[in-house]
Amino acid sequence: MKKKDSQKTNICCIGAGYVGGPTMSVIAEKCPYITINVVDLNQERIAAWNKKDLSKLPVFEPGLSKIIEKVRGKNLFFSTDIDNSIAIADIVFICVNTPTKVKGLGAGRASDLKWVESCARRVASKSTGHTIVVEKSTMPVRTAETIKIILQSSQPMNPPYKEKTFSVLSNPEFLAEGTAIKDLEKPDRVLIGGDDEKAIEKLAEIYRNWVDNKKILKTNLWSSELTKLSANAFLAQRISSINSISAFCEVTGGNIIEVSKAIGTDKRIGKQFLRAGPGFGGSCFKKDILNLVYLSEYYGLNEVANYWQSVINLNNWQNQRISRIVIDKLFGTISGKSLAILGFSFKANTNDTRESPSINIAKDLLEEGAKLRIHDPKVSIDQIEKDLNLIEFNKLTDKEQSKQEFSNQGSWIFAETIEKAFMDVDAVLVLTEWEEYTNIQWKKLSKLLRTPAWVFDVRSIVEPNTVIQSGLQLWRIGEGSVS
Ligand code: UDX
Ligand code: ADP
Repeated sequence: MKKKDSQKTNICCIGAGYVGGPTMSVIAEKCPYITINVVDLNQERIAAWNKKDLSKLPVFEPGLSKIIEKVRGKNLFFSTDIDNSIAIADIVFICVNTPTKVKGLGAGRASDLKWVESCARRVASKSTGHTIVVEKSTMPVRTAETIKIILQSSQPMNPPYKEKTFSVLSNPEFLAEGTAIKDLEKPDRVLIGGDDEKAIEKLAEIYRNWVDNKKILKTNLWSSELTKLSANAFLAQRISSINSISAFCEVTGGNIIEVSKAIGTDKRIGKQFLRAGPGFGGSCFKKDILNLVYLSEYYGLNEVANYWQSVINLNNWQNQRISRIVIDKLFGTISGKSLAILGFSFKANTNDTRESPSINIAKDLLEEGAKLRIHDPKVSIDQIEKDLNLIEFNKLTDKEQSKQEFSNQGSWIFAETIEKAFMDVDAVLVLTEWEEYTNIQWKKLSKLLRTPAWVFDVRSIVEPNTVIQSGLQLWRIGEGSVS
C-alpha cells in the first residue's frame, strides 16, 4: 500500500463520469501542485479516458479535450486502482451516480444510494490518517450524515489500532453539460457545506486558485445539500412554466419566442431558462425533483410534494404531446412512414442521453409503426440502441428499411449525415438544438423528402422563412403551424 506524502496535496476522485472527469480536469489545470487520481470500477471507461485519440474520450464537452491533453499524465491520472488512490488521498471526492431507485422502498422516486454507500465503505476501509471526504454528486438531504456514520464506524478493531479521522463536506456541482468547462472555470458560486472549519478552508483554498473568495459560500451540511436540490427544482420549474405557456400560445395564436423575450426582460424574472422545448432531460432535474417529492412526503409536507410533482407531470405531458401532434399532422397515421429525428442527446454539446426527450418521442413514434432515421453529431449508434431497447424495436440496415414497405412494425436506422436522415422521409423532427441544425440548407435538402413534408421544430431553431420557401410545412413549439 502506498503512503501519504505530507508535503503534497493529493486528491482521489471516485467516479470518472460527466461530473468527475470535467471537474477534476479543471482542478488539475488550475492547481498544478495537486496530484489527482480519478478512479472508477468501470475499466472500459477508464481506458477511454486514457486513449491517445482525444476524440474518443467517454465524455464530450467543449474545451475538455484541450485540458486533458495538457494535464493528463502530469498531475491528472485515470485508473482503476481505487484502494491505493484512497490510501494516499488527503481529499476524496465522491462523484458516483445516484440514479432514481427502480425497485424497493421509494422506487421511482428516491435516489439509489448503493454506489455512494459502497464508496463510503471503501474509503472507511482503505483511507489512512486524516481524510476529507467531499460529497459532490447530487444527494438527498442528510446523505452526508449517512456517510459520516459509515466512516465513524471504521476505527480499527485490531492492532496496531492506528486511528483514522474524517471530515465530511458537501460541495455540490452546478455544472451544466455542454457548458461544463465554462461553468467550472467561471462559477456563479462555489458552495461548501460542513462543520469542520479547517476542512472547509482546505477545500476553499483549492478553489481560490481561480475563483474569487466572495463567490465561495460556506453553509452547514444540510443547507448545502438542500441548495443543490432546490436550485435544480427552481430551474426545472421555469422550464415547465414556459412549456405550459407554449401550449397556450399554440392554441391562441401567441408566439412563445416573443412571449419568453418579453417576460425575460423583467429583471426580477431574468431571461435564462425560458426556452420552450420537448421538456427537460438530463440526469439531474427529474431525479432531484423526485427526491424533493419523496422527502416532502416523508416529512408529511403533502402540499409541497404535490407542488413539485406537478412540475414533473407537466414535463411528461409536454414530451408526450409531441408525437401526438406529428401523427395528427401526418393525416392521423405514421405507420410505415419514414421520419427523420435530428438530435438524440438531451441538449446540444453533449453526448449524454440520460432522460433525453428524444428517447420517449422516438419510442412513441416506433410504437405507431414509424420508420425512423436518427441523426446526432455526438451520440453513438450503440447508445441509441441501448436507449431504444432493441428487443422492442428493429434496428435495420438502410437497404432493409427501404424494402420494409407498409410494415406495421416500427424500425430505425442510424443516419451518419443529415442528408441520409432526410432520404424519402415525410417529416423532419428537430429535437436537440445542435448548431448544425440551425444551418440546414433547406432549399437543397428539401428535394430529398417525400411530399407533402413537414418540419417539426421542437426547439425553435430553424429559420421559418427558408423552410416555408422550400415548399415544406412548418410546425414550431409554442407557435403551431407557421404559414
Ligand atoms: C443541470 C443544472 O443546470 C446544473 O446546474 C446542475 O448541476 C445539473 O443539472 P444539465 O442538466 O446538465 O444541468 O443541463 P441544463 O442546461 O440545466 O438543461 C437541462 C434540460 O433542460 C435540458 O434538457 C435542456 O434542453 C432543458 N432546457 C434548458 C430547456 O428546455 N429550456 C431552457 O430554457 C433551458
Ligand atoms: P455523473 O453524471 O454523476 O458523473 P456518471 O454515470 O457519468 O454520473 O458517472 C458515475 C461513475 O461512477 C460511473 O463511471 C460509475 O462506473 C462510477 N462508480 C459508481 N460506483 C462506483 C464505486 N463504488 N467505485 C468506483 N466508481 C464507481
